[in-house]
Formats: sequence, structure tokens, C-alpha cells
Amino acid sequence: MRFLRRSRHTRTLKQEMDNDNKIETSRQQRLYSETLLDHFRNPRNYGSLPSPDVAYEEFNPLCGDRIRIELKISDNRIAAARFVGDGCAISIATASMLTELILDADLDQGEVISSEKLLSSLKSDIKPSRVKCAMLPLDALRSCLKAVCK
Ligand code: FES
Repeated sequence: MRFLRRSRHTRTLKQEMDNDNKIETSRQQRLYSETLLDHFRNPRNYGSLPSPDVAYEEFNPLCGDRIRIELKISDNRIAAARFVGDGCAISIATASMLTELILDADLDQGEVISSEKLLSSLKSDIKPSRVKCAMLPLDALRSCLKAVCK
């Protein structure tokens, strides 16, 4: 089982914004909403579960970022969700948000969370070129669920 060190995800917000070549302050604020910034700076459910029922790490070959989602399943519900990873502000914030939104989800009820709901929960104007960043945790979750629900 591979674990990623938290210290590597601590890219500064300035680096993130430089990466996006953002110039206008108002545009930066739209891209990085307070919600997104809060989840990036204070990620919820960061760390590994002692003995996850299922885990999957997704990798973005374009940037080298990785997000690993770990789940505990009980009575066909998501009883616990954690993540570890090394990623940009969007991927870390999305992973944090995702682990909150899926808690207690019933696996019998079809899709646990849609990409639209996850993206809208960030309240940010995510550029098409960065949607892959937000989808990294969701792809990891879907791989977990595929393994559990087969
Ligand atoms: Fe790599 Fe966002 S820049 S996932």
C-alpha cells in the first residue's frame, strides 16, 4: 500500500495562481472561491484509514499529481472516507469536499455523487483546462466503488 506524504501537497496559493497565469484579482477570486480555498488550506478527512475496505490512487500523468481515496463500507454505506495525496489547490480542495459529501451515501442508490454536484460545491469558476484536477479525486472514488460493487 502506497502512502503519500502530506508535506508535498503544500504548494503555495501563489504558485497555484502563477501556474494559471492569472492576472486580475477578481478573476482569481472567482477561480478560487472562499470555499475552495478553505478546503485547500484546511483539508477535511486528510490521512489514511487504519484498515480501509477499499482504496484507489488516481494519477494525472500531465502534472504528476496523485490523489488516493480510502473508504470504509458498512451496511452498504460509506461509513468513512479519507484521502491522501500530492496535488494542486483544486485537486486537494475537491478531494476534501468529496470526502465530506459522500459520507453515509447508500451504495444501492446508484451514483454516489455526480461530477456536476461536486464541481458546483466548490463554488468556483474552474476553467476547462483544470476540470481534470477536480476529477482526479472523483475518478479515484469511482474506481473504489467499482471494486466494491462488482
Ligand atoms: Fe495536477 Fe491539478 S495541476 S491535478
